[in-house]
Amino acid sequence: MTHLTGIKACVFDAYGTLFDVHAAAAALKQEIGPKADQLSATWRTKQLEYTWLRSLMPAYKPFWQVTQDGLDYALEEAGLADRTDLRQKLLDLYFNLAAYPEVPDMLAKLQAKGISTAILSNGSLDMLNGAVGSAGIADRLDDVLSVEAVGIFKPDPRIYQLVTDHFNLPERTSVAFMSSNGWDAAAAAHYGFQTVWVNRFGKPWERLEGTPKAVLTSLEKLPDLITC
Ligand code: LAC
Repeated sequence: MTHLTGIKACVFDAYGTLFDVHAAAAALKQEIGPKADQLSATWRTKQLEYTWLRSLMPAYKPFWQVTQDGLDYALEEAGLADRTDLRQKLLDLYFNLAAYPEVPDMLAKLQAKGISTAILSNGSLDMLNGAVGSAGIADRLDDVLSVEAVGIFKPDPRIYQLVTDHFNLPERTSVAFMSSNGWDAAAAAHYGFQTVWVNRFGKPWERLEGTPKAVLTSLEKLPDLITC
C-alpha cells in the first residue's frame, strides 16, 4: 500500500466519510416501510445533485436547506410527501448523525503523530457542529471548515483552497485529503492534495481527472499510511 509522506494536515470530507448518511433512514426503517433504502439513496443523490446544480447556476443556498430540498424530493417520490412527522424525525437524526465506529480512535492516532486534523465539508457550520458534538469527536479535530465561507460547493477549487489558506500550507502535497465520495477524492487529487479514497460502498472509480494515492474500505488503517 502506498504511503502518504510529508503530511502536515489530514483533512476529511464529512458526510459519507466520517458520518453515516444512511443512518437516519436506517433508524426509522420500520416506520418508513419497504421504501426506506430507496428513500435514503434518493435523498443523498438529490442533495449532491442540487449542490452541483446550484454551483453552476449559480444559486447558492446553505447545505442544511439543500438537504431538506433533497429529502422533500425523495419523500414525494416514495409517496410519503404528507408525512411531516417522518420528515421532522429524519432531519433531527441527520443533524445528529453518528460517526463511523473507527473514527474517534483513528483521529486520536493522527493527533498523537503531531498531525493537524480537520473537516472540509459542504455542510453548514451549525449542522457540522451538531454532528461533531453528537459523535463526541470535537476534541479530536483541530478545525471544521465549511464551504459557507465561500458560498459555493465542492468541487470548486476555491473550496479546497480553504484548507491551504487556513493552515498556511503553500505546498498542496502536504495535505492528505480523505473522502468516500469518488468525485470529491478525484477533485481534491486534481487540486494537488495527496488523496485517500475511502471506498465504503464498493463503487468503481470515477472517470475523472485526479488519482488517489491510496484506496481503503474504512478509515481504520489510515494512521498506518500517514507520515509527517
Ligand atoms: C461533504 C459532502 C460532499 O461533506 O459529503 O462535503
